[in-house]
Amino acid sequence: MVSATQSAAAELVCFNKGCRARYAITEVLYNCPKCGGLIEATYPGPLADPQQLKKTFRERRLSNRPLDQSGVWRYRELLPFLDDDRHVVTLREGNTPMLDAGTAAQYGGLAHLTFKHQGFNPTGSFKDNGMTAGTAQAVRLGMKRVACVSTGNTSASMAAYAAAAGLEALIFLPHGNISFGKLAQALEYGARTLQVEANFDEILKLVRALADRLRIYLLNSMNPFRVEGQKSIMFEMLDQRDWRVPDWVVLPGGNLGNTSAFGKALREAKDAGLIDRLPKLAVIQAEGAAPFESYWKRGGEGAFGPVAKPETLATAIRIGDPVSWPKALYEVRASDGLVEKVTEQEIADAKAQIGSCGIGCEPASAATLAGIRKLTAQGVMDRDSDVVAVLTGNVMKDPDYIYKYHTGQLEAPGGVKIRSTFGNQPIVVPNDPDEIAALLA
Ligand code: F0G
Repeated sequence: MVSATQSAAAELVCFNKGCRARYAITEVLYNCPKCGGLIEATYPGPLADPQQLKKTFRERRLSNRPLDQSGVWRYRELLPFLDDDRHVVTLREGNTPMLDAGTAAQYGGLAHLTFKHQGFNPTGSFKDNGMTAGTAQAVRLGMKRVACVSTGNTSASMAAYAAAAGLEALIFLPHGNISFGKLAQALEYGARTLQVEANFDEILKLVRALADRLRIYLLNSMNPFRVEGQKSIMFEMLDQRDWRVPDWVVLPGGNLGNTSAFGKALREAKDAGLIDRLPKLAVIQAEGAAPFESYWKRGGEGAFGPVAKPETLATAIRIGDPVSWPKALYEVRASDGLVEKVTEQEIADAKAQIGSCGIGCEPASAATLAGIRKLTAQGVMDRDSDVVAVLTGNVMKDPDYIYKYHTGQLEAPGGVKIRSTFGNQPIVVPNDPDEIAALLA
């Protein structure tokens, strides 16, 4: 699929600058055995001529080959870790649109705003971009059983890809704190689903301790191949803009896998000569689950302070101890970006504004627009900036939240009422044409 020499030379490397221990690409590693650091995939350069690569990526859009139709594997020269493309399991992930949103731009204090909407993926979230890559590696390694801990989207995605690949899927979820839209997907795709009486961070520790005992291959985002797949979100965005670099890329931050992937993608695209500068990354967290934001505001120095009891209605990002923070910190700094936090009310109102453009998204995704509004008000982001915000999940992932917002029943953790600023109440009417006509006159 890529040149044999290139994939043969792919390696796993410890992300920790002081260690940089190297391992074979086929080793099962989530952390460095020497120092405990995060692991990443690396490839020897240089790649092919950048103009030729751009042409190849574009031509593949006309191809009926499954690999070319995937918005991840279309860019396979930029994630060349496989030695055999028969290991790929694709549901035609990626291929997500860039949507201009006038009302949302205005709300955010911008002249223009484009959403890269990852909710158009096969299981409705950006996790599919990473999961096709992680599943391919699982198949390559001959794994039979894959597992993840999830706030919902990772599990929905993993369940689908495991089913497509014929692997057994084991899912661990925080009991009571995931949306039914996501839980239902995991059940529908046939995953064995365990609901644990603990939060995401606690369950992740539990499952990592169990991984060897249960002979499971972990597909959480500290799996370096998930990160490789998620890089394609940035490659596709750039390709869709004819490789014109935006000023800002705005995304929500939870476990910080996506921030790590976007930063790596952009740096590698620059190294390959595909772009000539980096956009700034703006990572937005929910106020009740914002350990990365507070670490950032402390200058990213000293010990990282997890939030023991993270709380937010944006359950996808209800994470207090994000595993990928060292990578994310490196990437935000490398891009000259920033980290900000937003309130529950700000997320809810921003979400309704995205909905009013006919676009829609899940609560975590709306943190982007709430963050943009805050950053333009602070004067950090200019009104004329060229901004791409990544909507990470589909509007139908969490209908309960939407119904409660529009009917004035949404309550933030701790019982504070969320105002339905842009509420749109359904109206109950009798079966009477005169009354309905009078109401709609
Ligand atoms: N947005 C959505 C819709 C998500 O599902 C997630 C993460 C994020 C943003 C944050 O991304 O973790 O890469 O910083 N969801 C994970 C899950 C944790 O289990 O589905 P991140």
